[in-house]
Amino acid sequence: MTLTNSVTRMKEKIATRIALAALLLSSAASAAFAQGAIQAAAGVRSPVAPTKEQVQAAVNEAYEKFKNNTEGKNADYIPELGKVDPKLYGIAIVTADGQTITAGDVDKAFSIQSISKVFSMALAMDELGPAKVFEKVGSEPTGRPFNSVEAVVDMPSHTGNPLVNAGAIATVSLIQAPSADAKWNKILNFYSKAAGEKLQILNDVYKSEAATNTGNKALAALLLKYERIYADPVESVDVYTKQCSVGVTAKELAVMGATLANNGTNPLTGEQVIKRENVPEILATMTMAGLYDGSGGWAWHVGLPAKSGVGGGIIAVVPGKGAIAVFAPPLDKAGNSVKAQLAIAYVADKLGINLYSPRSVGVK
Ligand code: DON
Repeated sequence: MTLTNSVTRMKEKIATRIALAALLLSSAASAAFAQGAIQAAAGVRSPVAPTKEQVQAAVNEAYEKFKNNTEGKNADYIPELGKVDPKLYGIAIVTADGQTITAGDVDKAFSIQSISKVFSMALAMDELGPAKVFEKVGSEPTGRPFNSVEAVVDMPSHTGNPLVNAGAIATVSLIQAPSADAKWNKILNFYSKAAGEKLQILNDVYKSEAATNTGNKALAALLLKYERIYADPVESVDVYTKQCSVGVTAKELAVMGATLANNGTNPLTGEQVIKRENVPEILATMTMAGLYDGSGGWAWHVGLPAKSGVGGGIIAVVPGKGAIAVFAPPLDKAGNSVKAQLAIAYVADKLGINLYSPRSVGVK
Protein backbone atom coordinates (compact mmCIF):
# COMPACT_ATOMS: atom_id res chain seq x y z
CA MET A 1 0.00 0.00 0.00
CA THR A 2 1.44 3.34 -1.01
CA LEU A 3 1.64 6.22 1.45
CA THR A 4 -0.92 8.17 -0.63
CA ASN A 5 -3.34 5.22 -0.52
CA SER A 6 -3.14 4.84 3.25
CA VAL A 7 -3.65 8.60 3.80
CA THR A 8 -6.71 8.46 1.51
CA ARG A 9 -8.10 5.46 3.47
CA MET A 10 -7.53 7.29 6.76
CA LYS A 11 -9.31 10.40 5.46
CA GLU A 12 -12.25 8.25 4.34
CA LYS A 13 -12.50 6.62 7.79
CA ILE A 14 -12.44 10.01 9.53
CA ALA A 15 -15.09 11.39 7.16
CA THR A 16 -17.35 8.38 7.84
CA ARG A 17 -16.95 8.85 11.61
CA ILE A 18 -17.73 12.57 11.38
CA ALA A 19 -20.82 11.86 9.25
CA LEU A 20 -22.00 9.22 11.76
CA ALA A 21 -21.46 11.55 14.72
CA ALA A 22 -23.34 14.35 12.93
CA LEU A 23 -26.22 11.99 12.20
CA LEU A 24 -26.39 10.88 15.85
CA LEU A 25 -26.20 14.47 17.09
CA SER A 26 -28.88 15.72 14.72
CA SER A 27 -31.28 12.92 15.64
CA ALA A 28 -30.63 13.61 19.37
CA ALA A 29 -31.27 17.32 18.75
CA SER A 30 -34.45 16.71 16.82
CA ALA A 31 -35.64 14.26 19.49
CA ALA A 32 -35.02 16.94 22.15
CA PHE A 33 -36.76 19.52 20.00
CA ALA A 34 -39.70 17.18 19.45
CA GLN A 35 -39.86 16.50 23.19
CA GLY A 36 -39.78 20.26 23.84
CA ALA A 37 -42.60 20.79 21.36
CA ILE A 38 -44.66 18.03 22.98
CA GLN A 39 -44.04 19.53 26.44
CA ALA A 40 -44.97 23.00 25.18
CA ALA A 41 -48.15 21.63 23.61
CA ALA A 42 -48.99 19.92 26.90
CA GLY A 43 -48.45 23.21 28.78
CA VAL A 44 -45.26 21.98 30.50
CA ARG A 45 -43.00 24.90 31.38
CA SER A 46 -39.37 25.20 30.33
CA PRO A 47 -37.15 23.85 33.12
CA VAL A 48 -35.24 27.16 33.31
CA ALA A 49 -38.20 29.56 33.27
CA PRO A 50 -39.18 30.71 36.78
CA THR A 51 -42.54 29.48 38.06
CA LYS A 52 -45.34 31.94 38.83
CA GLU A 53 -44.66 31.33 42.55
CA GLN A 54 -40.98 32.24 42.12
CA VAL A 55 -41.93 35.43 40.27
CA GLN A 56 -44.48 36.33 42.97
CA ALA A 57 -41.85 35.69 45.68
CA ALA A 58 -39.33 37.99 43.91
CA VAL A 59 -41.98 40.72 43.54
CA ASN A 60 -43.01 40.42 47.22
CA GLU A 61 -39.37 40.61 48.32
CA ALA A 62 -38.74 43.69 46.15
CA TYR A 63 -41.85 45.32 47.61
CA GLU A 64 -40.84 44.65 51.22
CA LYS A 65 -37.16 45.47 50.70
CA PHE A 66 -37.70 48.98 49.32
CA LYS A 67 -41.07 50.12 50.69
CA ASN A 68 -39.48 52.20 53.46
CA ASN A 69 -36.85 53.76 51.20
CA THR A 70 -37.31 57.54 51.37
CA GLU A 71 -34.64 58.61 48.85
CA GLY A 72 -35.58 60.95 46.01
CA LYS A 73 -38.23 63.59 45.64
CA ASN A 74 -41.50 63.94 43.71
CA ALA A 75 -41.23 66.03 40.54
CA ASP A 76 -42.60 69.46 41.37
CA TYR A 77 -41.81 71.46 38.21
CA ILE A 78 -45.27 70.20 37.27
CA PRO A 79 -46.95 71.41 40.50
CA GLU A 80 -49.67 68.74 40.52
CA LEU A 81 -47.05 65.95 40.67
CA GLY A 82 -45.66 67.43 43.88
CA LYS A 83 -49.01 66.69 45.57
CA VAL A 84 -49.00 62.93 44.91
CA ASP A 85 -48.49 60.76 48.01
CA PRO A 86 -44.76 59.86 47.91
CA LYS A 87 -45.43 56.62 49.80
CA LEU A 88 -47.46 55.07 46.97
CA TYR A 89 -45.62 52.02 45.68
CA GLY A 90 -46.79 49.25 43.40
CA ILE A 91 -45.15 46.51 41.32
CA ALA A 92 -46.89 44.67 38.48
CA ILE A 93 -45.66 42.01 36.08
CA VAL A 94 -47.67 40.87 33.07
CA THR A 95 -46.26 37.97 31.08
CA ALA A 96 -46.42 37.52 27.33
CA ASP A 97 -48.91 34.70 27.94
CA GLY A 98 -51.16 37.01 29.99
CA GLN A 99 -50.41 36.12 33.62
CA THR A 100 -50.45 38.97 36.17
CA ILE A 101 -48.32 39.14 39.34
CA THR A 102 -48.57 42.17 41.64
CA ALA A 103 -47.70 43.74 44.99
CA GLY A 104 -48.70 47.07 46.56
CA ASP A 105 -50.54 50.02 44.99
CA VAL A 106 -51.08 48.66 41.51
CA ASP A 107 -54.62 50.04 40.99
CA LYS A 108 -53.85 53.70 41.72
CA ALA A 109 -53.88 55.89 38.58
CA PHE A 110 -50.95 58.26 38.04
CA SER A 111 -49.77 60.22 35.01
CA ILE A 112 -47.87 58.18 32.43
CA GLN A 113 -45.60 61.16 31.55
CA SER A 114 -42.60 60.18 29.42
CA ILE A 115 -43.53 56.50 29.24
CA SER A 116 -46.12 57.75 26.72
CA LYS A 117 -43.26 58.62 24.35
CA VAL A 118 -42.67 54.92 23.65
CA PHE A 119 -46.23 54.45 22.44
CA SER A 120 -46.37 57.63 20.33
CA MET A 121 -43.13 56.47 18.75
CA ALA A 122 -44.81 53.13 18.01
CA LEU A 123 -47.84 54.90 16.51
CA ALA A 124 -45.68 57.13 14.29
CA MET A 125 -43.68 54.10 13.13
CA ASP A 126 -46.86 52.17 12.38
CA GLU A 127 -48.18 55.07 10.30
CA LEU A 128 -45.07 56.31 8.52
CA GLY A 129 -42.71 53.35 8.69
CA PRO A 130 -39.53 53.12 10.78
CA ALA A 131 -37.29 54.69 8.12
CA LYS A 132 -39.26 57.94 8.17
CA VAL A 133 -39.19 58.20 11.98
CA PHE A 134 -35.46 57.45 11.96
CA GLU A 135 -34.87 60.16 9.35
CA LYS A 136 -37.18 62.81 10.84
CA VAL A 137 -36.38 62.24 14.53
CA GLY A 138 -33.37 59.89 14.88
CA SER A 139 -32.28 57.42 17.53
CA GLU A 140 -29.08 58.74 19.12
CA PRO A 141 -28.85 58.94 22.91
CA THR A 142 -28.26 62.51 24.05
CA GLY A 143 -26.44 61.75 27.33
CA ARG A 144 -28.23 64.85 28.65
CA PRO A 145 -31.31 65.53 30.75
CA PHE A 146 -34.67 64.78 29.12
CA ASN A 147 -35.49 68.46 28.54
CA SER A 148 -32.04 69.60 27.43
CA VAL A 149 -31.83 72.69 25.22
CA GLU A 150 -28.09 72.05 24.69
CA ALA A 151 -28.86 68.65 23.15
CA VAL A 152 -31.16 70.28 20.60
CA VAL A 153 -28.48 72.82 19.70
CA ASP A 154 -25.51 70.41 19.69
CA MET A 155 -26.84 67.21 18.17
CA PRO A 156 -26.63 66.91 14.38
CA SER A 157 -30.23 65.64 14.30
CA HIS A 158 -31.37 68.32 16.84
CA THR A 159 -34.29 66.02 17.76
CA GLY A 160 -32.04 63.29 19.28
CA ASN A 161 -34.50 60.43 19.61
CA PRO A 162 -38.26 59.97 20.22
CA LEU A 163 -37.80 59.47 23.97
CA VAL A 164 -36.42 62.89 24.94
CA ASN A 165 -38.80 65.85 25.09
CA ALA A 166 -37.65 67.51 21.84
CA GLY A 167 -37.74 64.24 19.88
CA ALA A 168 -41.08 63.30 21.43
CA ILE A 169 -42.67 66.61 20.44
CA ALA A 170 -41.30 66.11 16.90
CA THR A 171 -42.71 62.56 16.90
CA VAL A 172 -46.16 63.86 17.87
CA SER A 173 -45.89 66.41 15.05
CA LEU A 174 -45.37 63.52 12.59
CA ILE A 175 -48.59 61.69 13.50
CA GLN A 176 -51.16 62.32 10.78
CA ALA A 177 -54.63 63.72 11.62
CA PRO A 178 -56.99 66.36 10.24
CA SER A 179 -56.98 68.36 13.52
CA ALA A 180 -55.20 68.51 16.88
CA ASP A 181 -58.28 66.97 18.55
CA ALA A 182 -58.34 64.11 16.06
CA LYS A 183 -54.62 63.52 16.68
CA TRP A 184 -55.12 63.47 20.44
CA ASN A 185 -58.01 60.99 20.14
CA LYS A 186 -55.94 58.79 17.88
CA ILE A 187 -53.09 58.74 20.42
CA LEU A 188 -55.38 58.07 23.40
CA ASN A 189 -57.09 55.27 21.50
CA PHE A 190 -53.74 53.70 20.59
CA TYR A 191 -52.55 53.79 24.23
CA SER A 192 -55.88 52.32 25.35
CA LYS A 193 -55.48 49.38 22.97
CA ALA A 194 -51.98 48.74 24.31
CA ALA A 195 -53.33 48.82 27.90
CA GLY A 196 -56.48 46.84 27.09
CA GLU A 197 -58.50 49.50 28.99
CA LYS A 198 -60.14 52.80 28.04
CA LEU A 199 -57.57 55.23 29.42
CA GLN A 200 -58.38 58.83 30.38
CA ILE A 201 -56.51 62.08 30.78
CA LEU A 202 -55.89 63.32 34.34
CA ASN A 203 -57.20 66.84 33.84
CA ASP A 204 -55.55 68.38 36.91
CA VAL A 205 -52.14 67.14 35.75
CA TYR A 206 -52.77 68.39 32.20
CA LYS A 207 -53.80 71.87 33.40
CA SER A 208 -50.84 72.02 35.77
CA GLU A 209 -48.31 71.12 33.06
CA ALA A 210 -49.98 73.28 30.38
CA ALA A 211 -49.62 76.28 32.70
CA THR A 212 -45.92 75.69 33.39
CA ASN A 213 -44.40 74.12 30.24
CA THR A 214 -42.46 77.10 28.90
CA GLY A 215 -39.38 74.87 28.55
CA ASN A 216 -41.14 72.51 26.14
CA LYS A 217 -42.50 75.48 24.18
CA ALA A 218 -38.94 76.76 23.86
CA LEU A 219 -37.75 73.34 22.63
CA ALA A 220 -40.50 73.33 19.98
CA ALA A 221 -39.53 76.85 18.86
CA LEU A 222 -35.91 75.73 18.52
CA LEU A 223 -36.98 72.70 16.49
CA LEU A 224 -38.85 75.06 14.18
CA LYS A 225 -35.66 77.05 13.67
CA TYR A 226 -33.85 73.82 12.68
CA GLU A 227 -36.83 72.66 10.53
CA ARG A 228 -37.16 69.55 12.69
CA ILE A 229 -40.83 69.88 13.68
CA TYR A 230 -43.48 68.84 11.16
CA ALA A 231 -46.72 70.45 12.35
CA ASP A 232 -47.68 73.59 14.26
CA PRO A 233 -45.28 73.78 17.28
CA VAL A 234 -47.85 75.16 19.75
CA GLU A 235 -50.38 72.50 18.81
CA SER A 236 -47.71 69.77 18.93
CA VAL A 237 -46.65 70.77 22.46
CA ASP A 238 -50.29 70.78 23.57
CA VAL A 239 -51.00 67.26 22.23
CA TYR A 240 -47.69 66.11 23.77
CA THR A 241 -48.73 67.60 27.14
CA LYS A 242 -52.06 65.75 26.93
CA GLN A 243 -50.36 62.46 26.15
CA CYS A 244 -48.08 62.89 29.19
CA SER A 245 -51.17 63.47 31.39
CA VAL A 246 -52.85 60.16 30.56
CA GLY A 247 -53.71 58.27 33.75
CA VAL A 248 -52.50 54.68 34.09
CA THR A 249 -52.16 52.18 36.91
CA ALA A 250 -49.05 50.03 37.38
CA LYS A 251 -51.14 47.07 36.22
CA GLU A 252 -52.18 48.84 33.01
CA LEU A 253 -48.62 49.95 32.37
CA ALA A 254 -47.42 46.37 32.76
CA VAL A 255 -49.95 45.32 30.09
CA MET A 256 -48.63 48.06 27.80
CA GLY A 257 -45.09 46.76 28.38
CA ALA A 258 -46.22 43.17 27.87
CA THR A 259 -47.70 44.23 24.52
CA LEU A 260 -44.16 45.20 23.48
CA ALA A 261 -42.75 41.99 24.97
CA ASN A 262 -45.35 40.00 23.02
CA ASN A 263 -44.27 41.34 19.59
CA GLY A 264 -46.88 44.10 19.62
CA THR A 265 -49.90 41.94 20.49
CA ASN A 266 -51.73 42.77 23.73
CA PRO A 267 -51.55 39.46 25.61
CA LEU A 268 -54.89 40.08 27.38
CA THR A 269 -57.02 41.16 24.42
CA GLY A 270 -55.13 39.33 21.66
CA GLU A 271 -55.17 42.49 19.54
CA GLN A 272 -52.11 43.30 17.40
CA VAL A 273 -51.61 46.93 18.51
CA ILE A 274 -48.03 47.65 17.41
CA LYS A 275 -46.59 46.28 14.17
CA ARG A 276 -44.35 43.38 15.20
CA GLU A 277 -41.56 44.41 12.80
CA ASN A 278 -41.21 47.75 14.63
CA VAL A 279 -40.75 46.30 18.12
CA PRO A 280 -36.94 45.73 17.93
CA GLU A 281 -36.24 49.38 17.04
CA ILE A 282 -38.52 50.59 19.84
CA LEU A 283 -36.80 48.36 22.41
CA ALA A 284 -33.35 49.40 21.12
CA THR A 285 -34.28 53.06 21.59
CA MET A 286 -35.53 52.32 25.10
CA THR A 287 -32.18 50.71 25.92
CA MET A 288 -30.23 53.73 24.68
CA ALA A 289 -32.43 56.55 25.95
CA GLY A 290 -35.23 55.22 28.18
CA LEU A 291 -33.70 56.54 31.39
CA TYR A 292 -32.04 59.59 29.78
CA ASP A 293 -28.61 60.31 31.25
CA GLY A 294 -29.18 57.27 33.50
CA SER A 295 -29.55 54.90 30.50
CA GLY A 296 -25.92 53.72 30.37
CA GLY A 297 -25.80 52.85 34.06
CA TRP A 298 -29.16 51.11 33.78
CA ALA A 299 -28.03 48.97 30.81
CA TRP A 300 -24.83 48.16 32.68
CA HIS A 301 -26.53 47.08 35.91
CA VAL A 302 -29.92 45.77 34.80
CA GLY A 303 -29.72 45.01 31.07
CA LEU A 304 -33.37 45.52 30.11
CA PRO A 305 -34.99 48.07 27.77
CA ALA A 306 -36.97 50.43 29.99
CA LYS A 307 -38.73 53.78 30.07
CA SER A 308 -39.34 56.14 32.96
CA GLY A 309 -41.77 58.99 33.56
CA VAL A 310 -41.65 61.86 36.05
CA GLY A 311 -45.02 60.66 37.40
CA GLY A 312 -42.97 57.91 39.12
CA GLY A 313 -43.54 55.02 36.73
CA ILE A 314 -40.98 52.83 34.99
CA ILE A 315 -41.62 49.92 32.61
CA ALA A 316 -38.98 47.36 31.70
CA VAL A 317 -39.51 44.83 28.93
CA VAL A 318 -38.18 41.29 28.66
CA PRO A 319 -38.66 40.49 24.94
CA GLY A 320 -40.80 37.42 24.39
CA LYS A 321 -41.42 36.96 28.10
CA GLY A 322 -43.21 39.90 29.72
CA ALA A 323 -42.88 43.30 31.35
CA ILE A 324 -42.56 44.78 34.80
CA ALA A 325 -44.05 48.16 35.74
CA VAL A 326 -43.35 49.93 39.00
CA PHE A 327 -44.93 53.09 40.39
CA ALA A 328 -43.29 55.11 43.19
CA PRO A 329 -43.24 58.94 42.86
CA PRO A 330 -39.90 60.07 44.39
CA LEU A 331 -37.30 60.58 41.64
CA ASP A 332 -33.51 60.74 41.39
CA LYS A 333 -31.70 63.68 39.77
CA ALA A 334 -32.18 62.29 36.23
CA GLY A 335 -35.98 62.17 36.78
CA ASN A 336 -36.22 58.39 37.26
CA SER A 337 -38.17 56.82 40.15
CA VAL A 338 -35.73 55.65 42.82
CA LYS A 339 -37.82 52.76 44.17
CA ALA A 340 -38.91 51.65 40.68
CA GLN A 341 -35.27 51.32 39.63
CA LEU A 342 -34.37 49.41 42.79
CA ALA A 343 -37.38 47.08 42.53
CA ILE A 344 -36.86 46.27 38.84
CA ALA A 345 -33.13 45.74 39.33
CA TYR A 346 -33.85 43.39 42.26
CA VAL A 347 -36.48 41.33 40.41
CA ALA A 348 -34.34 41.19 37.24
CA ASP A 349 -31.39 39.90 39.23
CA LYS A 350 -33.48 37.36 41.17
CA LEU A 351 -35.10 35.96 38.02
CA GLY A 352 -31.97 36.12 35.84
CA ILE A 353 -33.52 38.22 33.08
CA ASN A 354 -30.64 40.56 32.17
CA LEU A 355 -30.69 40.29 28.37
CA TYR A 356 -26.93 40.51 28.09
CA SER A 357 -26.15 37.88 30.72
CA PRO A 358 -25.37 34.24 29.95
CA ARG A 359 -27.42 33.58 33.11
CA SER A 360 -30.46 34.95 31.26
CA VAL A 361 -33.47 32.62 31.40
CA GLY A 362 -33.47 30.13 28.57
CA VAL A 363 -29.71 29.98 27.92
CA LYS A 364 -28.42 28.67 31.27
O1 DON B 1 -42.40 67.17 29.29
C1 DON B 1 -42.19 66.91 30.47
O2 DON B 1 -41.30 67.50 31.09
C2 DON B 1 -43.03 65.87 31.14
N1 DON B 1 -44.37 65.90 30.65
C3 DON B 1 -42.47 64.50 30.91
C4 DON B 1 -41.04 64.37 31.33
C5 DON B 1 -40.70 63.02 31.82
O3 DON B 1 -41.53 62.23 32.21
C6 DON B 1 -39.27 62.69 31.96
N2 DON B 1 -39.11 61.38 32.55
N3 DON B 1 -38.54 60.80 33.30
